[in-house]
This record gives sequence, C-alpha cells and structure tokens, in this order.
Amino acid sequence: MIASHIAQLLNEQVNAEFYASNVYLQLSAWCEGEGLEGAAKFFRTHSLEERTHMDKIFDYMAECSVPITVDAIPKAPSDHANLMVALKAAQEHEYKVTAMIKNIAKQSFEAEDYTTFNFIEWFIAEQHEEEVLFDKIMDKARILGFEGQPGQALYIMDDYLANVQH
Ligand code: FEO
Repeated sequence: MIASHIAQLLNEQVNAEFYASNVYLQLSAWCEGEGLEGAAKFFRTHSLEERTHMDKIFDYMAECSVPITVDAIPKAPSDHANLMVALKAAQEHEYKVTAMIKNIAKQSFEAEDYTTFNFIEWFIAEQHEEEVLFDKIMDKARILGFEGQPGQALYIMDDYLANVQH
C-alpha cells in the first residue's frame, strides 16, 4: 500500500516527465527551424527517453494499484536566443527533475516505503547520467569557446550533438 503523499509525488513525476518530453521535443523543433540538424536529433532522442521515464513510473503506479491522473501539460518554451541558451535551459531543467526524484527517495524512505524507495533508485542513477551528459556537453562548449554565436564552433557543436551518447 502506497501512502497518499507518495502516490501524489509519483503522479506529479509522471506529469513532469511528460512535460520534460515536450520540452525536448519543442527544443528539437526549434533546432530544426535554425538548421541545426544534429542538435535537433539529440533533443528528439532525449524527448523519447523522457517518454520512457514517464512510462516506467506509470507502470509502477499501475502495478501498485495507485490511481493515475494525466494532467494538462504546460506549453514548453518555444523560443531560444541561441543553442547555448537552449542547452543551458535543458541542463537547468534536469537539475529540477533531479531535485524532484531525490524528494521521492527521501519521502519514501521516511515513510518506510522501501518498495518505492527501491523503485526510485533507478531514477537517481538515471539523473546522475543525465547531469553527467549535460556537464560533458558544457565542457565541450567551453573547450570550443562556444557561447551560441554562429560560426565554426556552432557547426562543430551541432555535429557533436548528433552523435553524443545519451
Ligand atoms: Fe526524466 Fe531527463 O529526466
């Protein structure tokens, strides 16, 4: 039996992952409009990954007979000054998701709900990977001296993002 406050956090996470998927899908669309094919591919792949996160929590809730409510999803930001601003926004978004996941871990542990605690550990590892991924991208940008400006560094960043491992 999952406590109601844990069920609520899980439901919020389902909707947060859905929103994250839309954030990345919209980022992909923005990149397509800017002619950034590599970055568009990167964000599109990441959007699908967020969708799998949502499914994973959805399945867990269904297994535990916890009611699920799919809420209205806020509109994702659709305009960005440049690719660097878009990447920083994505990184900030991941930090927020990490905080939400850690809160589920904390609350489930405190409630002695070790089943949910065990379930959410996968997401803690996943968020670590996501943060490492964006740190790696930011390192690449720093090495290139890329701050969003058009030119060779933008071309290289776009090419790099096309092939970066998720
Ligand atoms: Fe599902 Fe990128 O957090």
